[in-house]
Amino acid sequence: MAGEHILIVDDEPAIRSTLRGVLEDEGYRVSSVGGGADALRFFADELPDLTFLDIWMDRMDGLETLAEIKRARPEAIVVMISGHGTIETAVKATRLGAYDFVEKPLSLEKILVTVSRALEHARLERENAALRASLEQRTEIIGESAAIRALRDQIATAAPTNGRVLIHGENGSGKELVARAIHVQSARHERPFVEVNCAAIPEELIESELFGHEKGAFTGALARRRGKFEMADGGTLFLDEIGDMSLKTQAKVLRSLEEQAFERVGGKDTLRVDVRVIAASNRDLAGLIREGRFREDLFYRLNVIPIEVPALRTRKDDIPAHVSHFIAQFCAENGKRIKTLSSEALGYFLAYDWPGNVRELRNMLERLVIMAPGDVIAADDLPAPLRPKEAAAAGEARERSLKDARDSFERAYILAELRINDWNVTRTAERLGIERSHLYRKLKAYNINPPKRDT
Ligand SMILES: Nc1ncnc2c1ncn2[C@@H]1O[C@H](COP(=O)(O)OP(=O)(O)OP(=O)(O)O)[C@@H](O)[C@H]1O
Ligand SMILES: [Mg+2]
Repeated sequence: MAGEHILIVDDEPAIRSTLRGVLEDEGYRVSSVGGGADALRFFADELPDLTFLDIWMDRMDGLETLAEIKRARPEAIVVMISGHGTIETAVKATRLGAYDFVEKPLSLEKILVTVSRALEHARLERENAALRASLEQRTEIIGESAAIRALRDQIATAAPTNGRVLIHGENGSGKELVARAIHVQSARHERPFVEVNCAAIPEELIESELFGHEKGAFTGALARRRGKFEMADGGTLFLDEIGDMSLKTQAKVLRSLEEQAFERVGGKDTLRVDVRVIAASNRDLAGLIREGRFREDLFYRLNVIPIEVPALRTRKDDIPAHVSHFIAQFCAENGKRIKTLSSEALGYFLAYDWPGNVRELRNMLERLVIMAPGDVIAADDLPAPLRPKEAAAAGEARERSLKDARDSFERAYILAELRINDWNVTRTAERLGIERSHLYRKLKAYNINPPKRDT
């Protein structure tokens, strides 16, 4: 706790030195000034963790000073020192954003309690702000391709409703990210987002996981336990990998959705909750229904708002944006200077099909940020399967002919150069060392069109 910086603003030298003595004895760092103008000069350079501010001072009034401080530094924590504690000034100061009061004559004890309370308050505020920021960052959806814009629109439309959402998409394409984004943009965002991965929980445990159990409901149920439906009350329940749920569990989930009610395993009481369900699957649920492995009625219950998350290979224009985002993130996390990807390396990124989607891209960049020796990640740094050469060396079956491989690489390479040169064809042709007309023919052959910059 000690070591925090406290500013004292008071025109009475005796008060300044008393307060300073008390606070320094407790290990705080103390600065003091004798008036409002000096206080404002102080705040121009520094933000103390806590400020004591006298209400009555010559020249500049304490309330006026408080207003100015709060205007410059809304996050400043200010405790007023009041001589004649009238209700009126107290109310005014509170409106202006004062955190607390101490009255003259100053009580040592009261001062120290006030200080530690105010500093604790400031610490919690900072923690909250950091949590909010990291939560928002975790739901940031990157990309400007038409597919991603449409996805963002769908999320914005679905979020404010209570409609059940069924998200479909390949592995690592961003299904959970979409579910979180819907929750964060909904009226439920201050209530819990609770996730259940149906594929990761053994069949015998899934019911208790979802609905909870009473003490003694089965061997090992030593105490009553709340289930995920209960924990998500008022918020969102994310049922991930829904296609992996057994028919028996599906029946129970169906009932709880229909009635918004359920019983704990081994319990008699019927519990009612207010839960919005978002489900996700990477499997073909229609196929599972045909095979009799997924209940059609449950499917229709869950599939009120269907959302399809596009595979990364269908929106390759977004790859450069993902690359710079992840590079910045991993360089920061690993305390490294920002690296860049050479344009040849980016060409390989664009040529590759990313069967593991954004997760695969993310893992690849984390690995490269850590492993690549220089500031520039070069084509030589890329492992298989990004570099077709190495993939072939590794004996991977490649159905593509040499020409297909070359074409797809050339297309990706040209695309990367175009982006780097802001779609300026003349400049790109120069960089590639070919005639402009030649580049135009290539663009046509590879069906490369500049992005539309409207909407
Ligand atoms: N459009 C996007 N913008 C930014 N990050 C993304 C995007 N899509 C996915 N990601 C990131 O990729 C990783 C995988 O995403 P997520 O876990 O949501 O995928 P998933 O479809 O649920 O995967 P799985 O099928 O394996 O469960 C996460 O780190 C996520 O933040
Ligand atoms: Mg997932």
